[in-house]
Amino acid sequence: MTRKILVTSALTYANGPIHLGHMLEYIQTDIWHRFQNLIGNQCIYIGGDDAHGTAIMLRAEKEGITPETLIARTLSEHQKDLCGFLINCDNYYSTHTEENHQLAINIYEKLQAHGDIKVKTIKQAFDIEKQIFLPDRFIKGECPRCGAADQYGDNCEVCGATYSPTELRNPRSVLSNTTPIEKESEHYFFRLTHYTEFLQQWSQSDALQPEIRNKLNEWFKMGLQDWDISRDAPYFGFEIPGAPGKYFYVWLDAPIGYMASFKNLCTRRDDLDFDEFWRRDSQTELHHFVGKDIMYFHSLFWPAMLQSANYRIPTAIHTHGFVTVDGQKMSKSRGTFIKAQTYLSHLAAEYLRYYYATKLGDNLEDIDLNWRDFRLRINADLIGKYINIASRCAGFINKKFAGMLGQSLELPTLFQEFSNAADTIAAYYERREFGRAMREIMQLANQANQYIAQQEPWVIAKDETQLPRVQAVCTMGLNLFRLLTIYLKPVLPELATKVEAFFDIAPLTWQDHQHALLNHKIKKFKPLMQRIDEEQLLALKTATENESY
Ligand code: 2FM
Ligand code: ZN
Repeated sequence: MTRKILVTSALTYANGPIHLGHMLEYIQTDIWHRFQNLIGNQCIYIGGDDAHGTAIMLRAEKEGITPETLIARTLSEHQKDLCGFLINCDNYYSTHTEENHQLAINIYEKLQAHGDIKVKTIKQAFDIEKQIFLPDRFIKGECPRCGAADQYGDNCEVCGATYSPTELRNPRSVLSNTTPIEKESEHYFFRLTHYTEFLQQWSQSDALQPEIRNKLNEWFKMGLQDWDISRDAPYFGFEIPGAPGKYFYVWLDAPIGYMASFKNLCTRRDDLDFDEFWRRDSQTELHHFVGKDIMYFHSLFWPAMLQSANYRIPTAIHTHGFVTVDGQKMSKSRGTFIKAQTYLSHLAAEYLRYYYATKLGDNLEDIDLNWRDFRLRINADLIGKYINIASRCAGFINKKFAGMLGQSLELPTLFQEFSNAADTIAAYYERREFGRAMREIMQLANQANQYIAQQEPWVIAKDETQLPRVQAVCTMGLNLFRLLTIYLKPVLPELATKVEAFFDIAPLTWQDHQHALLNHKIKKFKPLMQRIDEEQLLALKTATENESY
């Protein structure tokens, strides 16, 4: 039966460029999404920008533009970056839209009707000069534990302590360098505590990875707390109905942005019905791909909100780790904070797609982008193993047989072995074990190369009487190459398109692994991918080091 699946990548903040850390998640989601469609499911991929909050408001102020101008500019930059990395979103939208406004109000009113909103007065840091309440990240001071200077209001980068901004010694506002005062204000809270039992049940389902389940159990033991969903003006966001001067906290309307992006897509696609995907008893699937830093929001607040507002809850949250570069946390000062555009000026998107794929599994481990390993892996696997199969065989078919593939396979058992691997590889993709899938595929590529090396078409081609065998061997080799192309297609979609053009065939589907391509005229073979030179990596490094933000 065809599954109907909605997948999301976390919505990217609209105040900065997309970098290679973001790309891990986009690539992971995109591969899974492409795979689902390739095997015949209906999979819709939703993304967008997360456009609200204090940081975006202040960034716009600093640039002397309105937040609306900033988010419009950023949206088009992000769309361009994603396009450059072949991220095939069905809709890339924004949280600052009419659809999201309506949905946020609709959900808030349902939470309220359900008795899940409470109002409470709390004290918070306030910048008198700027007349604004300060989020934790906008307060700096000395760490209450180790005394390190210049630490943020939520955690110490030196000793790792976490604390509240009121505990900082000598706190200063990052905005005005004045000492913040404590000021009272009324806040709106979502009663997460009403959902403890529901969340305990949900955490035992298959929706979460075991590591996340354990983390949730720790939180349950400590006891859940109600969640502050309001912020005071000035704030860039949606005003709360019936509460002038109060705005929804950015994290309230951010995940609702997934729904809004889908709703917007539905206006353009007759085959999609919003309610079919979001109503409580929906038979469709909903998968969120997120980083480990924000799984808290997706595994607690979001399902509880959906439950309260009588919508469906997610099928699964797929959490991944962070990207490190050459073993280090990505950092602007170390020159390892690589923007998507900078990467694309020096290297092809598919290198990174493949490299990340080789490293991705269904777990929270960090992924190291080691540039030496990156170059060796691409050159060895994609050029040296996979593409090598075609480049060793295509020339003979083009030159000696006018592009005609032979009538039959020289070694049907080997073809069958490749074809049989489809189920194993599909199961790896399905479970987001992309690294395992890539290893399986490269193992097959090794076998194909061994076969060609043993047959030595370049030797037998010298003997005119042996020509039929040359055609048979190269037909065999190209058929193995074709199957590998199917298996790599979710990761290397552009390359697959070039291969389809070379074979002169319709876009490959997963099912095409079941038959061979015989007695068929192919096109002239053109190089499919370039090797990576060390110079390219050096150029990227230099460009990144000279970058301004
Ligand atoms: O952490 C972040 O980058 C957020 N902008 C993610 C939001 S995900 C979703 F909830 F919108
Ligand atoms: Zn410290």
